Amino acid sequence: MRRKVTVVGSGNVGATVAHRLADKQLADVVMIDILEGVPQGKGLDLLEAGPIEGYDVRVRGTNNYADTANSDLVVMTAGFPRKPGMSRDDLLKANHDVVKSAIEQAVKYSPDSILIVVTNPLDAMAQTAYKVSGFSKNRVIGMAGVLDTARYRTFIAEALNVSVQNVQGFVLGGHGDAMVPVPRYTTVAGIPVGELMPKEQLDQIITRTRSGGVEIVNLLKAGSAYYAPSAAVVEMIDAIFNDRKKILPCAAYLEGEYGIKGLFVGVPVKLGARGIEQIIEIKLTPEEQAGLQKSAAAVKELVEVIKV
Ligand code: LAC
Repeated sequence: MRRKVTVVGSGNVGATVAHRLADKQLADVVMIDILEGVPQGKGLDLLEAGPIEGYDVRVRGTNNYADTANSDLVVMTAGFPRKPGMSRDDLLKANHDVVKSAIEQAVKYSPDSILIVVTNPLDAMAQTAYKVSGFSKNRVIGMAGVLDTARYRTFIAEALNVSVQNVQGFVLGGHGDAMVPVPRYTTVAGIPVGELMPKEQLDQIITRTRSGGVEIVNLLKAGSAYYAPSAAVVEMIDAIFNDRKKILPCAAYLEGEYGIKGLFVGVPVKLGARGIEQIIEIKLTPEEQAGLQKSAAAVKELVEVIKV
């Protein structure tokens, strides 16, 4: 039987997630939005691409949560996007209300689903979804680390003129300006990146990675990134549906790991059929640990404002 994914929000991120899921035939997709006609129109348009692309999955749009019933996975993308000059955190209160009401509805109809949260500010919205859903922590996952790491890998590959596939690494911490790329665990075909480029160049790449979202917002002027964010979501879904046990950086609810308690923060996790099957704890230097704590403190400030 085919899987079913609900995508909440039919904006650029939601529609591109639906598009990628259909292309990879990972699941039937229901897009839901409060806008009338938009999810239906985009869903029908995607469905009609099926004969050309050769996919048989069903894609449809709706304004009614009853149509999302029994989804295996729900992707939460709805919310206000960031405008130039606006930080992810400015979005906090407005998007908290959006996520709260959407997750309440979605989990009522899909009580056994796994939730992937994309709405910003990412870590605080994942925490909102966790609290509102009452789901076990393995079934609520924030997407951000895969995206931030993809940007980091892109810039390193470009600087060294090597394949992006050669570049491995990860970004820890919240999806905010204090995120922590970890050069010590960054390799190019197994070679530590520090052997291949001077520290100053890597520092510039880290700075660019941290403001990778803003760079796109400033270029687009209206709206934020969606091609790379949607690719990140679909890599996570692929890992879950195919039970790949893939280690990816994701926002996970920590209960003492890395010295952080009761907070969603980006760390390497193992994704498989049960969602987050393991939080991978790695040894950090005091400096890296301090960076992670600083990033976690920024997330904590947000969740305290919205009391989740
Ligand atoms: C980004 C925004 C959407 O990182 O957070 O692209």
